[in-house]
Amino acid sequence: INNGQTIIITGGAGFIGSNFINLVLAEYPDDRIICMDKLTYAGNLSTLEETMHSSNFRFVKVDIADRDSVYKVFEKEKPNIVVNFAAESHVDRSIEDPGLFLQANVIGTGVLMDACRRYGIRRYHQVSTDEVYGDLPLDRPDLLFTEDTPLQASSPYSASKAAADMLVLAYHRTYGLPVSISRCSNNYGPNHFPEKLIPLTIIRALADQPIPVYGNGINVRDWIYVEDHCRAIDLVMRKGHEGEVYNIGGHNERSNLEVVKTILHELEKPESLIIYVKDRPGHDMRYAIDPTKIHQELGWLPETEFENGIRRTIRWYVQHRKWWEDIQSGEYRNYFEKMYGSL
Ligand code: NAD
Ligand code: DAU
Repeated sequence: INNGQTIIITGGAGFIGSNFINLVLAEYPDDRIICMDKLTYAGNLSTLEETMHSSNFRFVKVDIADRDSVYKVFEKEKPNIVVNFAAESHVDRSIEDPGLFLQANVIGTGVLMDACRRYGIRRYHQVSTDEVYGDLPLDRPDLLFTEDTPLQASSPYSASKAAADMLVLAYHRTYGLPVSISRCSNNYGPNHFPEKLIPLTIIRALADQPIPVYGNGINVRDWIYVEDHCRAIDLVMRKGHEGEVYNIGGHNERSNLEVVKTILHELEKPESLIIYVKDRPGHDMRYAIDPTKIHQELGWLPETEFENGIRRTIRWYVQHRKWWEDIQSGEYRNYFEKMYGSL
């Protein structure tokens, strides 16, 4: 699928979706993008401030679970491609309020696919997560998630994402809808909402505030720079095979403690800022992706080395203080205080 498409990008006011929009606008000047976002606490129009001026970009405030509104946008814009980033994305919030996650992640995905069936599209791409596979043990570094690993979600968030994946594959098999799915590991980079480990650590370290590490900090995540993920999604959506799942990962496993210490070291802050707090219920131990399929079929490889990506990310947060200060002044601050009290 070449340049010149009309693409609906849902959840584009969030972290990965906004980075993806920037990539498409920069690399496919003949594509037209319609960003469909509900603007929840995690969606921020200031993230898209510069993008808003682009002539081939349009923003519509729509909940993907609102069938009538979604159909109206499809009818008017006649998209060829739909990429679904929209989701409730934070595991801890899903433990507090699972229902929200079912509504946005499962019902929302179902409504989007019904719209795709009704109006016709060339490709529906579902942005999924490695969390659908559950977790791996720490003492078996040889084990990695492949596309054939059975789904075994641990949290309400990951269960809702797994359910959405099943729905997407069922629409392919039953109705022949041209779909693809990508399952990526933990992203980091610009526009990342400060409730997540890396931006939270950067922002709190900058203010010399304690950094809450869950449990003993030995849980492992496979970190990937957001631009590398976006490049992979673009490849899968345009060139990936219909009905297929592609794993995306950075070959970059690090314990939470290692990640926090790297950031503190970069910022020349003391490790004494680390405090150990109550563990996350059901906390997944280790994620690790085998990205052989996307490499062999589509030639994708992650390009950003972790130390480099972290430095770029820290620089971005230092240079965009207003972006995160504005976010912290509202709903996010109430959430943080509810979770941790006043650390
Ligand atoms: P995010 O929380 O930063 O952004 C989510 C966006 O979706 C926000 O703009 C929000 O307003 C919007 N949204 C939420 N519910 C909506 C609804 N019902 N209708 C319309 N818009 C809605 O999330 P993110 O980290 O950018 O993640 C994007 C996608 O990528 C999610 O589907 C997530 O499961 C997946 N993913 C994330 C990661 C990661 O490390 N962050 C890794 C793999 C996959
Ligand atoms: O693997 C992909 C997933 O990565 C995505 O599907 C999710 O949307 C995304 O939020 C992320 O999930 P995690 O739960 O891995 O990310 P989070 O940043 O919340 O936590 C990373 C690790 O750090 C995890 O082991 C929990 C721990 N943690 C997190 C926070 C917020 C802490 O120790 N302290 C914290 O304050």
